Amino acid sequence: MKILNISLNDFRNYLKQSLLLSPGLNFLVGQNGEGKTNFLEAIYVLGLSKSYRSEDLDLIRFQCDYTKIKAIVAMKERQMDMQIVLSELGKKVLMNGQEVKRLSDYIGNLNIVLFAPEDLNLVKGSPVGRRYFFDIILGQVDRNYLKNLSDFKYVLKQRNELLKQMQSGAQKDTTLLDVITEQLSQEIEKIISARQKFIQIIGEKAAINYQFLTTKKDSFQLTYLPSISENILDTLKSRVRTDILSGTTNYGPHRDDFDFLLSDKSAKGLASQGEQRMIILAIDLAVIDYIFDLKNDKPIFLLDDVLSELDQEKQNRLLRYLISSGGQAIITTTGLNEIENDILRQSKIFKVAKGYIKEETHNGS
Ligand SMILES: Nc1ncnc2c1ncn2[C@@H]1O[C@H](COP(=O)(O)OP(=O)(O)O)[C@@H](O)[C@H]1O
Ligand SMILES: [Mg+2]
Repeated sequence: MKILNISLNDFRNYLKQSLLLSPGLNFLVGQNGEGKTNFLEAIYVLGLSKSYRSEDLDLIRFQCDYTKIKAIVAMKERQMDMQIVLSELGKKVLMNGQEVKRLSDYIGNLNIVLFAPEDLNLVKGSPVGRRYFFDIILGQVDRNYLKNLSDFKYVLKQRNELLKQMQSGAQKDTTLLDVITEQLSQEIEKIISARQKFIQIIGEKAAINYQFLTTKKDSFQLTYLPSISENILDTLKSRVRTDILSGTTNYGPHRDDFDFLLSDKSAKGLASQGEQRMIILAIDLAVIDYIFDLKNDKPIFLLDDVLSELDQEKQNRLLRYLISSGGQAIITTTGLNEIENDILRQSKIFKVAKGYIKEETHNGS
């Protein structure tokens, strides 16, 4: 899919901004604090209906009542007009001018893969961040997964409330707990099997990408560490006492983790900044392929502040790969000095300053 044109109204530091994007690479060049990330964020919000870094109302330009993002997106066999409006009254999403009542019918039409500097916390940070990262990706491409996840959370909440009552002695009969535990085990099974399949596929692709990006001997492996995997119901039952004592469910997808192995050692403790960046990039590129395999259409790739951290050879290598893969990418950077001319000639370049974006023409004017 390609965003042909996009317009923002009162989004962050943008007043009114319309852009015609290239179907290939688009560079947003500007100093810090000018609005580069804000622009990527607008595209993200258009696709996923919420930001990855703040609440809805923070997205509205200071002193304004609402914000609107609108784009024409070319999909494999059709064009679609997508629009989102956020205000104190809530959010409204529209496709081809028609309001879409359920967000789950809207999300997943415009697929986005984002590399954000925040993602660098992923490798060494807490498991919560890793679960969130993979859940967002899976949820974008698999509507059932989103539904299963919310069903799971609902049953988990019921079970935890009951466990609290049992912990305090207010409830002693275990009949209801048995019923809920059985329900929970079914929900867990669905989530775990989806995560397992997904990580298997993404992991194989990411391992290849990592080699390509780094040209080093280090092998990379993505692994899934489910907190329970086999005989789920029996395991849950055998741990009921611990759950009652602690008043909460200690095993399940909400306690899962993922690991990133470099030459068979966990990267959590040892990966350098550069290696972490390459791990995330390798995963992002794998996700792009994965979405393509499912939908026969490439997602939009947003790369925020990734280039300056790579050496020149790796920058150009990555950009060439993106060009050859044929997807649309929007890339922020503070400068283009290190990027080879033939790459720039095939791309659109936009200057960003004080919430205003202007396309550069290639003769430098
Ligand atoms: N709701 C908002 N209304 C107006 N300006 C905002 C809003 N939110 C953030 N900004 C401004 O956006 C700027 C940061 O933009 P950002 O896209 O993060 O910059 P960068 O180019 O470094 O990525 C800051 O000047 C900030 O004050
Ligand atoms: Mg930024």
